[in-house]
Amino acid sequence: MARTMAPLAHGREGSVCEPVATPRGLTALRALIEAAPSRSEIKALAAGRAALDVRDPRSIERAFGDLSPTIAVNTAAYTAVDKAETDQDAAFSLNRDGARAFAAAAARRNIPVIHLSTHYVFDGTKPAPYVESDAPRPATVFGRSKLEGEHAVRDANPQHVIIRTGWVFGPTGQNFATKILGAADGGAPLRVVSDQHGNPTYAPHLAAAILDVARMISAGDLRGSGWGTYHASGTGVTSWHGLAGEMFECAAKRGRRGVLLEPIASADYPTQAPRPKNSELDCAKFERTFGLRLPAWQQGVADCVARLTTG
Ligand SMILES: NC(=O)c1ccc[n+]([C@@H]2O[C@H](COP(=O)([O-])OP(=O)(O)OC[C@H]3O[C@@H](n4cnc5c(N)ncnc54)[C@H](OP(=O)(O)O)[C@@H]3O)[C@@H](O)[C@H]2O)c1
Repeated sequence: MARTMAPLAHGREGSVCEPVATPRGLTALRALIEAAPSRSEIKALAAGRAALDVRDPRSIERAFGDLSPTIAVNTAAYTAVDKAETDQDAAFSLNRDGARAFAAAAARRNIPVIHLSTHYVFDGTKPAPYVESDAPRPATVFGRSKLEGEHAVRDANPQHVIIRTGWVFGPTGQNFATKILGAADGGAPLRVVSDQHGNPTYAPHLAAAILDVARMISAGDLRGSGWGTYHASGTGVTSWHGLAGEMFECAAKRGRRGVLLEPIASADYPTQAPRPKNSELDCAKFERTFGLRLPAWQQGVADCVARLTTG
């Protein structure tokens, strides 16, 4: 049985948890832990930040020692894209140095690492979906810190699967779905950017794919050439405005009051860190290698809204 370990910031601290009932927070990892119990071949072990702080090598060593994973998944990151512009040291300490330390600890035990990265390693100016062989050119501190994290993981652990994804949303944590459906409660019209495009990725769909990759690694299906960098995001493309529209349509079908959405340009919503115009990832390599394609983003929206509007 694969023992998949991931640092979980909001999990029960210092314990082996399966499944982990996280009280709040976290998009990608909570989904991962929720999905794991349905896979009998995978036992997911989550370490809370207090038990596994990726900036503290001793805590990493302790957690690896306590949990004895056979595969390690790193979902911990500094994800405040705007704040990173003025908080460079913190972004690099987590996204580069923490990523290296975590991957190196796995390597010392001859354990593969699955590491999450982002479309922010690209500047978003390409007029077509990004493929893995495109030269990264981050336009933000956050993107640079994640790119250097990728380099660090590759250097630290030859057995790595780096998964770049984007526009992750889900029913828990601070993300576009929870924020925008919450914002609509005020009833005022919402202005949403319509000139940035990407592939919305439903966290539980991403989690299921990560667990499938972990299962293949553990079954020995991933030969030497399978280690590397992949793009994996939801199937289909839209804008933030399109994503919001789909969310409110689903919510309206479930009896929620309608909301007026006003499309605006990025220039009308200035942010400290520039947002990529194009965040679209070509996921063909992931599908070729693992036989996995994430479901259409609209399926994720339907499930997410159902979960957020139940009860
Ligand atoms: N969300 C997206 O749209 C998106 C897109 C592309 C890629 N990704 C990647 O997916 C991964 C997970 O992102 P997410 O959306 O799930 O982000 P998230 O909700 O912000 O989760 C990141 C987690 O890392 C934890 N963390 C912070 N410092 C830590 C430390 N020193 N040691 C251990 N854990 C620590 C945070 O805990 P606290 O909450 O306690 O600070 C937080 O729970 C990241 O690598 C991110 O770059 C996300």
